[in-house]
Amino acid sequence: MKITQRTFDAVIVGAGGAGLRSAIQLSESGLKTAVITKVFPTRSHTVAAQGGVAASLGNSEEDHWHWHMYDTVKGSDWLGDQDAIEFMCRKANEVVIELEHYGMPFDRTDAGKIYQRPFGGHMSNFGEKPVRRACAAADRTGHAMLHALYQRNVRANTQFFVEWMALDLIRGAEGEVLGVVAMEMETGEISIFQAKATIFATGGSGRMFYSSTNAFINTGDGLGMTARAGLPIQDMEFFQFHPTGVYGAGVLITEGVRGEGGILRNSAGERFMERYAPNAKDLASRDVVSRAMATEIKEGRGCGPNRDHVLLDLSHLDPKVIMQRLPGIREISIQFAGVDPIREPIPVVPTAHYQMGGIPTHYSGRVVAPRDGDPDAIVPGFYAAGECACASVHGANRLGTNSLLDLLVFGKSAGDSVIEDVASHPKSLPDLPANAADYSLSRLARLDGQVDGESVHEVQLALRRTMQDHCGVFRFPDLLKEGVSEIMAVAERVGRSGIKDKSKVFNTARIEALELDNLIEAAKATMIGAATRQESRGAQARADFPERDDINWLKHTLWYREDNRIDSRPVHLKPLTVDTIELKKRTY
Ligand code: FUM
Repeated sequence: MKITQRTFDAVIVGAGGAGLRSAIQLSESGLKTAVITKVFPTRSHTVAAQGGVAASLGNSEEDHWHWHMYDTVKGSDWLGDQDAIEFMCRKANEVVIELEHYGMPFDRTDAGKIYQRPFGGHMSNFGEKPVRRACAAADRTGHAMLHALYQRNVRANTQFFVEWMALDLIRGAEGEVLGVVAMEMETGEISIFQAKATIFATGGSGRMFYSSTNAFINTGDGLGMTARAGLPIQDMEFFQFHPTGVYGAGVLITEGVRGEGGILRNSAGERFMERYAPNAKDLASRDVVSRAMATEIKEGRGCGPNRDHVLLDLSHLDPKVIMQRLPGIREISIQFAGVDPIREPIPVVPTAHYQMGGIPTHYSGRVVAPRDGDPDAIVPGFYAAGECACASVHGANRLGTNSLLDLLVFGKSAGDSVIEDVASHPKSLPDLPANAADYSLSRLARLDGQVDGESVHEVQLALRRTMQDHCGVFRFPDLLKEGVSEIMAVAERVGRSGIKDKSKVFNTARIEALELDNLIEAAKATMIGAATRQESRGAQARADFPERDDINWLKHTLWYREDNRIDSRPVHLKPLTVDTIELKKRTY
């Protein structure tokens, strides 16, 4: 097969918020930059983010980056790296104002400032009461952001490779990353993208769950490529269930609804969050709210004929607020739940939403992996940002609106690090190994040669069912044990799965098969991580180990594909300039 070789200073995989923000940095600095993306950039999953982006602008009431940092450390159940969290919270105002200057159409206060609403776990004065920190464009913040970032890239002449799929990382003899192998969907042709720097901004792996707010494209591609290249993935057991997915459909209903005054109620009409989080109530952090909802349902106080969901009530809000601030969720409720929230409550259930774990990175965006006794050794040439990366600012549980902030801050810092590293190695591109594309070609050859393979769709369904049934909001020892053997059995089926259509041109069956190769790596890391970690922290709620155990488990989990090996890295408890936020019991 003919393989085209393309050379760039930097190649970015993924054109969601993180990829686009990195690309602006690189293209505006004059580096020759390619962005590879499975979908047109403005269709990336960032488009689905609704409620806002966190920044302590203090436009409606007093706020401070240090309060934001405190909330984020507490929200992470102390698993977040405090240096990275300080870095992110300090940079928040700068990156949001930059975005405003790129033309992002934020809603406005009467004084003309960026509109901010309260969001779960974001409090004033080190945990006192909810604060308005989420900068919002109605309930379509991600949509507005993605368009502003894309347009800025058009101005900067970024080169996009749209409807291309990256297949594998290329590593050199010393373990450095030299680029990626990628396939053009339109032709099925293979190219090598050789680059001084490779940035992964490939998003999450939420499609591993049966009920998910995630787009079909969120198949953990960066994680799969990283794992196959022999590098670890971190903290994957911490998977966030968003409290309010539309019952039955999984579509996201923003937490901004509760920020605007919406209330969760059980079958008795009770505002049950008052019992679980007396201070923050419906605006407690997501893991707390999701567990409360699951408990209400488990204990028979769920709604509907099967008592299997709860209700999100907005009917007491002024309809003008719903029309102006939440028009998107009104439309979603009418389309997917058949209710108009102006008059009727929305049926909701906790739904898989966000992976806190990912490719371990330093807050500069450089990928790290333990080597020669150094837990934070840099992998030369490799960077990651956004949901696929684990900086780790979200630790065991992410606060809503910190994801859009994460992708802006770390997209930008990954771009800055590439500029710095390329400037310090200005010479030519590194040599590629002779067999750079062989691994990807062998994966494609397996699909081409597979006769009577099991359908990719069926195997993917088994994967998603296994994750949903065995690794949900609450985790039980027997279910986890079975879950590990079931997911390993699914992995074997992935290796035998096949496609009937062997054609090259726009063969979406082949793309789905390649995506499944990635999703299974993310799923194994998640299930095995959850079975291994014997404590409850953030989104990992073990029925058999109900307490957080800082003596034995205040550490990041590392999962390696080879032999499913588990290792760990220390949590960075020391911030950059301020005192450590000391460990304590987490209550809201
Ligand atoms: O609820 C939401 O609008 C989602 C935001 C987020 O995941 O950060």
